[in-house]
Formats: sequence, structure tokens, C-alpha cells
Amino acid sequence: MTAAQHTPPIVESGVRPGASAASASLQSRQWLWHGEQDTERFAQQLAALPALANAYVTLHGDLGAGKTTLVRHLLRALGVQGRIKSPTYAVVEPHEAPGLAIWHFDFYRFDDPREWEDAGFRDIFSSPGLKLAEWPEKAAALTPPADIAIHIEAIDEAQRRVTLMAQTEPGRLLLAALKP
Ligand SMILES: Nc1ncnc2c1ncn2[C@@H]1O[C@H](COP(=O)(O)OP(=O)(O)OP(=O)(O)O)[C@@H](O)[C@H]1O
Ligand SMILES: [Mg+2]
Repeated sequence: MTAAQHTPPIVESGVRPGASAASASLQSRQWLWHGEQDTERFAQQLAALPALANAYVTLHGDLGAGKTTLVRHLLRALGVQGRIKSPTYAVVEPHEAPGLAIWHFDFYRFDDPREWEDAGFRDIFSSPGLKLAEWPEKAAALTPPADIAIHIEAIDEAQRRVTLMAQTEPGRLLLAALKP
């Protein structure tokens, strides 16, 4: 039996085209970042929410949209020290913040489902701690639904349109706790 068969199907409760504006407002929120300073401020705000400690957060957007940049600011805001390596080749990079385990996945090069078991990804997802994932689409059959999906769209060199979608109840609470 493959790993995929063990995994419950992903239930998409986020906003879909055609969802009513009222339900959309409960489940998704949008920001405009005018430069990396806004990205940093947003990361600091997110890091201050205690419920983030056990969340699964996915990051969506084109190459260079700013997914890793947000993760780096978030890791710093959570208290991760030293060099922050990007996980592109290793698929996952573990980090330690005070009292918090964090795993930063980049599934861009993930193409062998056996790695899910062999590299211990299943164990990571069942452990307490914050899980962050770039290119989650590439492991969509194996991962649980994200609490929050962050979509980043580059408008120009510095500006980013950012949409957060809550896909679980803890995700909705997190989303509601963020300032405009
Ligand atoms: N407001 C902003 N927020 C985030 N990044 C920004 C912003 N403005 C400019 N940038 C720049 O955009 C680039 C984003 O690169 P980054 O590596 O974070 O992208 P990525 O989405 O992780 O790409 P990939 O899919 O290749 O992993 C960086 O060079 C960063 O400095
Ligand atoms: Mg990246």
C-alpha cells in the first residue's frame, strides 16, 4: 500500500471561485506589501500568535514571489538564530526556536512518494511544531490540509499582493487574530 492510501483525502474548505463574499471574508484576507519591510512586519505579527506553534502553513506563488523571504523573516521573528539555510536540495530544513520545533519544506524537487516515509516526513507531520511548506502542490496527495495557505503574487519589484486562506478551524482563528 502506498503512503497516499494511508492519507485521508484533502478536504478543501478554503475559498473557491463562486464562494459567496460573506463566507469568503471569514476564510480569506488580503494584504498589500509595499516592500520587504512589510513582509518582515507581517512575519513578526504572525510569529506573535501562540496558535502558530502547531500550525501547518503552505506558501504559494511563482518562482521569486517571496515565499522563502517570508519564511526567513518568520524564523527570525520566532527566535531562530544563525544561518538560515534554504531547503531546496534537502526538501526539508529543521530549525529550533526557543520552545518550538520548526520544519521548513520546499517540495519543488520532491517527486518520489517513497521519500515521504523514508525521509521521515510522515513523522514530522505527526509531531508537534510548526510546519512551513513551499511548493506544497508537489506533495499534495501526502500532506494534510494546511491550516493557512499564503498566496504571494509579485506586482512589481517590491510590491506583493498576499492572500491568506484558512482551511481549518485553527486556521480561521489564526486568520481572525491578524491585524489588517
Ligand atoms: N515585499 C517583498 N516580500 C518578499 N520578497 C520581496 C519583496 N520585495 C522584493 N522581494 C524580493 O523578491 C525575492 C523573493 O525571492 P524568494 O527566494 O523569497 O522567492 P520564492 O517565492 O521562495 O521563490 P522559489 O519558488 O524559487 O523558492 C527576493 O529577492 C526578495 O528580496
Ligand atoms: Mg523559495
